[in-house]
Amino acid sequence: METKTLFNERRSINFFDKTKEMDEQTLKEIINLAVLAPSAFNLQPWRIIVVKSENSKEKLFKLSNTQDKVKEAAVNLILIGKKNAWDNSNLVWQEMLKSVGGNKQMVDGAKQAAAFLYGSSDERSRKFAESNTGLLAMAIMIAAKEYGVDTHPMSGINFDGIHNEFGLREDDTVVMIIAMGYSDKSKTLYPRRPRLMFDEIATIL
Ligand SMILES: Cc1cc2nc3c(=O)[nH]c(=O)nc-3n(C[C@H](O)[C@H](O)[C@H](O)COP(=O)(O)O)c2cc1C
Repeated sequence: METKTLFNERRSINFFDKTKEMDEQTLKEIINLAVLAPSAFNLQPWRIIVVKSENSKEKLFKLSNTQDKVKEAAVNLILIGKKNAWDNSNLVWQEMLKSVGGNKQMVDGAKQAAAFLYGSSDERSRKFAESNTGLLAMAIMIAAKEYGVDTHPMSGINFDGIHNEFGLREDDTVVMIIAMGYSDKSKTLYPRRPRLMFDEIATIL
């Protein structure tokens, strides 16, 4: 699909067709395309829990202000930001070392910079994890559209509740959830609401 069309046609879908499952291969292809999203130092500070079983959906539904789409969608993604992904344990550093021909000094410099920029306060770690994972979220929604899959992002959720119920780590932060599936064509989506345009949101200095 042409990029302009993708942007014009992506909508937050309120009604999913409960009878339509999404095959795992399609989900994998969407995610594997979306991970081309940019991230700071290419550190990719994110991970995803795919909520697919009825039991897990029910738990998520209760922690999402009982938004019906959570139960109706084929799957829901919990997008998790990793606040500590700047640290030494991130395998991306090893890949970076290879890709710069073993130049350890260069990689150590990047590690030091990342430790300061993203690890020197809780605010910096959180911004790092959540801003990068936000870009992944948009990439997933656009990639899904390319595969004919509809989505709905949600942050009207109980972040701490999801964190606890799904056994997340201390350094994880729940960024949002995204319901995914196929829209129920028998229902009409509300018209798209207008956006604030360049002249209203941008300042040229
Ligand atoms: C981060 C984020 C959180 C959102 N949370 C919710 C939510 O909890 N429930 C909901 O019904 N819509 C939610 N929305 C959907 C927005 O209301 C929707 O994107 C907006 O109205 C624009 O509509 P469109 O996506 O169809 O263009 C959320 C959207 C974003 C980006």
